[in-house]
Amino acid sequence: MQNNVLRAGIIGLGSISRVHVDALEKLESAEIRAVCDIDGEKLEKAVRETGAKAYSDWRELVNAGDVDIVHVLTPHYLHAPMSIYALGRGKHVLTEKPMATSTADALKMIEAADSSASTLNVIFQNRYNDSTQELKRIIDSGEAGRLIGARAVICWHRTSEYYAQADWRGKKATEGGALLINQCIHTLDLISYLCGPIKRVSGRVSTGLLKDAIECEDNAHAVFEFESGQTGVIFASNNFCVDAPVMLECVFENGVYQLWAEKLFRLVDGVPTLIARGSDAKELGVKSYWGAGHLAQIKDVYDCILTGRRFSIDGRSAFGALALIEAIYKSSETGAWEELVKPTGE
Ligand SMILES: NC(=O)c1ccc[n+]([C@@H]2O[C@H](COP(=O)([O-])OP(=O)(O)OC[C@H]3O[C@@H](n4cnc5c(N)ncnc54)[C@H](O)[C@@H]3O)[C@@H](O)[C@H]2O)c1
Repeated sequence: MQNNVLRAGIIGLGSISRVHVDALEKLESAEIRAVCDIDGEKLEKAVRETGAKAYSDWRELVNAGDVDIVHVLTPHYLHAPMSIYALGRGKHVLTEKPMATSTADALKMIEAADSSASTLNVIFQNRYNDSTQELKRIIDSGEAGRLIGARAVICWHRTSEYYAQADWRGKKATEGGALLINQCIHTLDLISYLCGPIKRVSGRVSTGLLKDAIECEDNAHAVFEFESGQTGVIFASNNFCVDAPVMLECVFENGVYQLWAEKLFRLVDGVPTLIARGSDAKELGVKSYWGAGHLAQIKDVYDCILTGRRFSIDGRSAFGALALIEAIYKSSETGAWEELVKPTGE
């Protein structure tokens, strides 16, 4: 760390890396020192664009000694081993979602962060949308009153071509699932962030239109119970004709609130009124369904590390969404209600 600047190393130079590079280039608190990919073409392109040092071996990047924070932007199954290795060598880690493909691996990451002087941070950029923040403020202020229930509807369009672009996708061993762990995880994270922790779930997953393209689910539905005793439902599909805006409805005793992608509405007698409009992802040149929160989250992570402030989305905070997904997969197999695994030390 030099002059209030963190030296970043990026591992994985695929589609999401552009968003991280753009954010880091905008931050005075960041300098991209090193980039790594096993794909030589992507590596060369990133070196041309950033001027950073190239690595084809991620362990060499971690051990090189001139990087303070490692961005882990690789396929899901690599998040845990790469994060644990980097934390063990005193590097801060910012990993893309999901933090791991299983709660067992996620617990090992939390343990590695607990025994390191460095921090584990997980990307859930939608928590940083202005509309999410406004709803969080309304709920935390008590003005919404008691929670009654919640529902999420996630209908996106994923084709066999999307899965053919990267061979780790759609497979249990490398993606850890499909629809729930990749596309739905952001919304499942927001449910607990806004409405409180979830205790147990009963859910089903199935593979519909993508049966010949993927090994895991492209459709899912679930009913879940919060620790507070209230319930909620989730409907999700990757078989829709377009990437529809995700809808998360939170019903409170004093009001019904709906997040539609980056916009927040309050419903009065079923009629929606816009009360917060987040940044438009498309205007920022980011895919609309990714949202526009990466810059704000990455800035927050860097500010926290540089000032010693505790970062809010650490391993324990990110754990709940993964635990919910794992419990839905398990419930789909057993046909029973399944309790969510809890992180240790809470
Ligand atoms: N937050 C979001 O909204 C968002 C959006 C898209 C992707 N993501 C996440 O970002 C991660 C990457 O997704 P993507 O779409 O960019 O995938 P991708 O397949 O486009 O890129 C992954 C990259 O990792 C590289 N890689 C694989 N093994 C490696 C290794 N051992 N060492 C170094 N590099 C290696 C691949 O060559 C590839 O370039 C995933 O976790 C995904 O869920 C998050």
